[in-house]
Parts: sequence; structure tokens; C-alpha cells
Amino acid sequence: MQTISTIAALRATLGQWRREGLSISLVPTMGNLHEGHLALVHKARQLGDRTVVSLFVNPIQFVAGEDYETYPRTLGEDSRRLGELGPDVLFAPSVQEMYPAGLQGHTRVEVPGLGDILCGEFRPGHFTGVATVVAKLLNAVQPDLAVFGEKDYQQLLVIRRLVRDLCLPVEIHALATVREADGLALSSRNGYLSARERRVAPVLYRSLQHAARRLGRGEGNLEAVERAGLQELREAGLRPDYFSIRRGADLSQPEGAEDGLVILAAAWLGKARLIDNIALHNQHCTPERNRE
Ligand code: PAJ
Repeated sequence: MQTISTIAALRATLGQWRREGLSISLVPTMGNLHEGHLALVHKARQLGDRTVVSLFVNPIQFVAGEDYETYPRTLGEDSRRLGELGPDVLFAPSVQEMYPAGLQGHTRVEVPGLGDILCGEFRPGHFTGVATVVAKLLNAVQPDLAVFGEKDYQQLLVIRRLVRDLCLPVEIHALATVREADGLALSSRNGYLSARERRVAPVLYRSLQHAARRLGRGEGNLEAVERAGLQELREAGLRPDYFSIRRGADLSQPEGAEDGLVILAAAWLGKARLIDNIALHNQHCTPERNRE
């Protein structure tokens, strides 16, 4: 695996592969890699001839007062773990390389509507920061395909929308959430949890499962299901931002029990903001399994 830190060097390497007719896959990350990230890399390697993993803690997707400064930066360990998996390139640019003229006047990619609800409401500007950096990475690498996790369901839809709206010639693939044995979705921010908080954290996924089961039994009062989810989280000591049942295709508000719903929640536990979701895919609202 080659580690590259400049866009010029990246283009030189990728240009060569493209001339050889090889397909290129990209997995964007902010590092502090866990099994969820590694599952994306594994998938990307199956889908493309050459795989690029990007590692960049993107300052403009952190809202003022968030954890940009303290976000775990573990380049040495990440590169060791990636080395075992065998992607071809680790692209790890500096902030200066990605934003040479500074952060303020930089062109932004905004995804209105979709980027302003749910997490976007609680983290204003976050999805503009995500969409901007992902657009830059897609332009720098020009991959044939890119792989993202369903764990960040809203982010995945924002990226699909930006690719469609900007006519970017890339296929977006999604991978099911990788979880701990007790159901907690793997996340770089789980490291912020104390031992006691870590024992409590699986309640987030459990509350989503309870809601999914109620919908599966034919419950049509979505607000009642959402209220019960919020209450379950509060009783466990979490501070929920939202617990919401939406249409899976565009996160709009459903009229009632419909096909294709997704249940999404975000909640604070100590210093960690945890997010998770369950997508429901058929008339009987059973949780989806391992969709790609
Ligand atoms: P990061 O949080 O590092 O996540 C990188 C990718 O890993 C995202 O596609 C995310 O959805 C996926 N991922 C995270 N946890 C996962 C899990 N438990 N199972 C499966 N996939 C998981 O998301 C970002 O970085 C950034 O916003 C980024 C897209 C890189 C833009 O800066």
C-alpha cells in the first residue's frame, strides 16, 4: 500500500492505472478505523481493480463547539490495519492540501432540504461540509465507484443526491452497519464512552428494534412509536436529539404506515453523540438484512 498526501501525486498514480484500463474504487473515511470501515474497504476491493482509501478529518463538517480538535487521529495504527487488508493507496492529505486558500472563502456544495433536517437541524452546516469534501474527493480520485456505510443513512442520501445533481460519473454503493455483539453500531466516537456509558449505549439500537417491531405488528400511529422511542432513550439516561420515522428514499415525513420506512435516532450519551437507524423494506416492516 502506497501512502500519498498530495492531489498531484495521487493523480499521477491513478492516471497510470486508468491508462491501463483498471477500475478504481474509493472509500472516504476520517480515520480511527474500525471493523465497519474495514468492511467498506473489503467491499471496495471486491468491486474495483484498484482501491483508494482516503483519510481526512474534514474541519468544515464539524460545527463550532464540536469535537474537531479532539477527534481521534490514529494514522499509524490505521495504516497498519489497512496494510493487512491490502488497498492500493491510502490518501491522507493535510488540511492545507485540501483547503489551500483557507476554509472561509471555499466553494461549498449545499444539498438543500435533505441536508437541513434531522442531523442537519442539530448540526447546521454539517452536511454542506460533508457534501463539499466528498465532492472534492470524488473529483480528486475520479473513481468508478465509492462505498459508504448505511450507519450514516442521511449522509448516504446526501451523497447520492449530490452525485445525481452534479452529474458525477460515479456509482455509489452502500454497506449494512457493522455492530458489536450487543448491537451497538461501531463508531469512532464510541471511544468517548466511559465503561458505564458503554454498557448503556446498546439501548439506542434496542429502541430502534422495539419501534421496528411495533410497526411490524401493524401500528399505524407513528408519533406514538416515536414518543415511546424518545422515552426509552431518556429513561436509560441518553439525551436524544431526535427519534424519527421517515421515508427511506428521501427522509420525508410518511403519512402513516407505508412501505420503505426508515427509523433514525441520534442521542447524546456523555460526550458522545451516537446515531443509528433501521431500514424497513416490505409491507410487514421487517428490518432489512445485509442489503448492499
Ligand atoms: P467516518 O465516520 O470515518 O466514516 C467513513 C465511512 O464509514 C462512512 O461511509 C460511514 O458510513 C462508514 N461507517 C462508519 N461506521 C460504520 C459501521 N459501523 N458500519 C458500516 N459502515 C460504517 O462518514 C465520514 O467518516 C465522513 O463524513 C466522510 C464521508 C469521510 C466525509 O468526511
